[in-house]
Amino acid sequence: MKAALEWQIACGADEAILDAPVDRTSPPKAEVPPRQAPAREAAPDIDPVAAARTAATTALDLTTLRAAMKAYEHCDLKRGAKQLVFSDGNANARVMIVGEAPGRDEDIEGRPFVGRAGQLLDLMFSHIGLFRTESDSERALYIANVLPWRPPQNRDPKPEEMKMMLPFLERHVELVDPDLIVAMGNHACLALLGQRGITRLRGNWKMALGKPTLPMFHPAYLLRTPEAKRETWADLLSLKDKLRR
Ligand code: URA
Repeated sequence: MKAALEWQIACGADEAILDAPVDRTSPPKAEVPPRQAPAREAAPDIDPVAAARTAATTALDLTTLRAAMKAYEHCDLKRGAKQLVFSDGNANARVMIVGEAPGRDEDIEGRPFVGRAGQLLDLMFSHIGLFRTESDSERALYIANVLPWRPPQNRDPKPEEMKMMLPFLERHVELVDPDLIVAMGNHACLALLGQRGITRLRGNWKMALGKPTLPMFHPAYLLRTPEAKRETWADLLSLKDKLRR
């Protein structure tokens, strides 16, 4: 018995009994360090407006501008939209129309102003002899938007979205180099003129990006407010008159 006790002490036993048995025959388990969250990579500080300006100014023609806009990753609208809506019409046109943003139909088709508002736009401009399908630059239209991606549920563009896409619009106008711009509705006026209040602005020629610019009611507004078509007819005649001069 004494010899058995001495043998246990020699094996390391220093207490008569423990709360839990100790297996002294297996090699000790390696200690597992507590799990740490993977180190987060610091996101580089990107200024979306500066990134847009660099991408836009390096575009030398409309094809590369379109590609630069398609590759631009800083506008969240891109992720909710089906595709980029760049422009429609004749890039040699004397008149460039700037709208707000694509809606559902434009998002599906990839061309601006193809829904009900677009059909009214085509009808309005046809009355003064201007068409997006026309090859003669004197009678042609070119159409783009402030934003090239559809906002979800057609909500209003956010100021930061307009700000980051503005360098692309500025370059777009520079490359098309129209004689006249039509700013369609409040958001186009805000982007191009830095002014809102289309009821007061419409019909009054301004300068935007070095071009005579005519603010007009948006055709979507005219669909809801047909009585405003009278003022729009006056604006169309003003545009026709300006083209003659
Ligand atoms: N409204 C716009 O402003 N642009 C479009 O392309 C369609 C509707």
